[in-house]
Amino acid sequence: MIAPKSQKVWMDGKLVDFAQAKVHVLAHTLHYGVGVFEGIRAYPTSDGSAIFRLRPHVERLIESARFYHMPVNYTREEMEQAILETQAANAIVPSYIRPILYRGEPGLGVKNLKGKVSLAIGVIPASKYLGAESDGGVRAKVSPFHKPHSLAVPSFAKAAGNYLNSYLAGIDAQQDGYDEAILLDSRGYVAEGTGENVFVVRNGVLYTPGLQSDILLGVTRDSVIQIARDLGREVVEKTLSVNELLSADEAFFSGTFAEIAPIREVSHFTIGDGKVGPITKEVSKMYYRAVHGEEPRYAKWLDPVPGLTAAVPRSK
Ligand SMILES: Cc1ncc(COP(=O)(O)O)c(C=O)c1O
Repeated sequence: MIAPKSQKVWMDGKLVDFAQAKVHVLAHTLHYGVGVFEGIRAYPTSDGSAIFRLRPHVERLIESARFYHMPVNYTREEMEQAILETQAANAIVPSYIRPILYRGEPGLGVKNLKGKVSLAIGVIPASKYLGAESDGGVRAKVSPFHKPHSLAVPSFAKAAGNYLNSYLAGIDAQQDGYDEAILLDSRGYVAEGTGENVFVVRNGVLYTPGLQSDILLGVTRDSVIQIARDLGREVVEKTLSVNELLSADEAFFSGTFAEIAPIREVSHFTIGDGKVGPITKEVSKMYYRAVHGEEPRYAKWLDPVPGLTAAVPRSK
């Protein structure tokens, strides 16, 4: 990507110019994928730029680091402040914020735990990733690549190395002309997209796989569950067969980057009538209102960015 000249990256307490945000080529994380990260969005609201669900993202980052034996040199509050500071310094709205904990010093050897664990935070302009409701939904392919069993690598930690799996599935789907892949777990049940969770709707009830399907427990997934329940809908977390996916009335992806992306087709099977369904519409409308600060009930999910308090029009 080409960054604006003023763009800054936060690296262990300092805001450095985009071009100077470098690590050593023999860094442990680069070779073994032992890095943990988050993807967070800042949205335009009538009170300026606000970060959506900062706390659960930072908590997940800490949990991921703990699992991978990466001692974090910052408290949760310090990391939240650093993320707000980086967003303020870049003043990009809407934005996608990427904090990463990594071992950036030279340190070859898989079991090398000596290197310092650093924190970096980058901010890029956010765009629509998968199709919006207005595009009529996305086409997904059931991937030949399965999610690794949790006895191989656990899915609850958002680790850099996990994305080899997402990469292979995503490229395979893309090369076959699909927008996204749906990966099955090692038992053959529906797990998730390459960077999204999956929901289906049958007879008015929402269903989504749980941790037993080796998914990442998405923050957006959690928001969708809460929103749907607040709308009076039943939401069931359960093992989901491919049958249940293909014969669903509606289906959609949820994720920070993808937001809510309706699924209209899976591996050449039309989902429902091939149009964005009423429950997907209802949930996604409320989700977009929540992220843009238009729903007082969900105002608690937004952290205003200090210094970026001028109203920003909602982008389409
Ligand atoms: C593999 C995977 N599943 C699900 C998600 C959705 O998680 P979230 O809603 O927290 O962005 C992501 C994105 O972070 C992901 O990478």
